[in-house]
Amino acid sequence: MVPCHWTPISAAAEPRRAHYHSGAMTMTITVTRLTPHFAARIDGVDITRPIDDATWAEIRAALDEHSVLVFRGTPLDDDQQIAFSERFGALEVTRSMNPAAGTPFARQSNLDIKSGEVIPPDDRRMIYQLANMLWHSDSSFKPVASLCSLLSARLVPPEGGATEFASARAAYPSLPDDVKRRVEGLVVVHDFSWSRDQVQPGFYNAEERAVYPPVRHPIVRTNPVNGRRSLFLGAHASHIEGMSVEAGRALLKQLLAHVTQLEFCYRHEWREGDLIVWDNRCVLHRATPYDTQRHKRLMQRTTVGGDPNEYAIR
Ligand code: OGA
Ligand code: MN
Repeated sequence: MVPCHWTPISAAAEPRRAHYHSGAMTMTITVTRLTPHFAARIDGVDITRPIDDATWAEIRAALDEHSVLVFRGTPLDDDQQIAFSERFGALEVTRSMNPAAGTPFARQSNLDIKSGEVIPPDDRRMIYQLANMLWHSDSSFKPVASLCSLLSARLVPPEGGATEFASARAAYPSLPDDVKRRVEGLVVVHDFSWSRDQVQPGFYNAEERAVYPPVRHPIVRTNPVNGRRSLFLGAHASHIEGMSVEAGRALLKQLLAHVTQLEFCYRHEWREGDLIVWDNRCVLHRATPYDTQRHKRLMQRTTVGGDPNEYAIR
């Protein structure tokens, strides 16, 4: 079963390269843009080891500027992934039915955590993961949404299983003026159960639904460092306060279609040892299919909590 919303993007597959000039003389990292609008590859730093403060400041600034940071060919073990992730802030603990629940990790994998065997496609754990194929922002269903996620490629299938990113910030300026006026000040309700309902209606029972009650977020978010606006959408975004559920969903669908146009997308074909950091405040992402019965895939995610004051509804 594949969520009906999934259609491939293809032309964004080939990165367009241009060097990024910060003007600073002391840059130690190399930042290479992967699309004209967002996403950059970072070289010149070993993220498996402790990072000095000056280099760290460049990496953190690069996240605010480029929203998606790709580190290639630096395999991380669990401790190294946690140490690097914690530089961005306190980690969330996974509470959902993810196999890594109770730890700082979320595992995206078709392998049983104990036996290492492939999980059958009709198993609840696989259906749960299908929701990753809908455009989403991790933890947008939490009262304090996430700053960023870090996904480490441990086992990569020989084909398929790319991850796609769409920049809701890059897409914002080209929204028609009347739409910009319309969304300003709107509150969007994000609901974890809604994202699972889109894959399989009623996937969660009442007890499971109660773990993450719906939360309210401003639909327009502004980056506190550079003032750039973006929309806070994705699979958990259920409806809009003050509008009927149908009208809100129709508007969300229209906005999502704008944000996920090819020109605002970057598609990453994984190699083992890649690590990607993405800014959940302004970027959506989704998994893409692979043959889960023939190939093994193990991706391990850490999720950094957001600032409770940054996007408070006032
Ligand atoms: C995630 C996620 C996509 C993928 O880890 O949050 O959505 O391609 N992953 O595994
Ligand atoms: Mn995700």
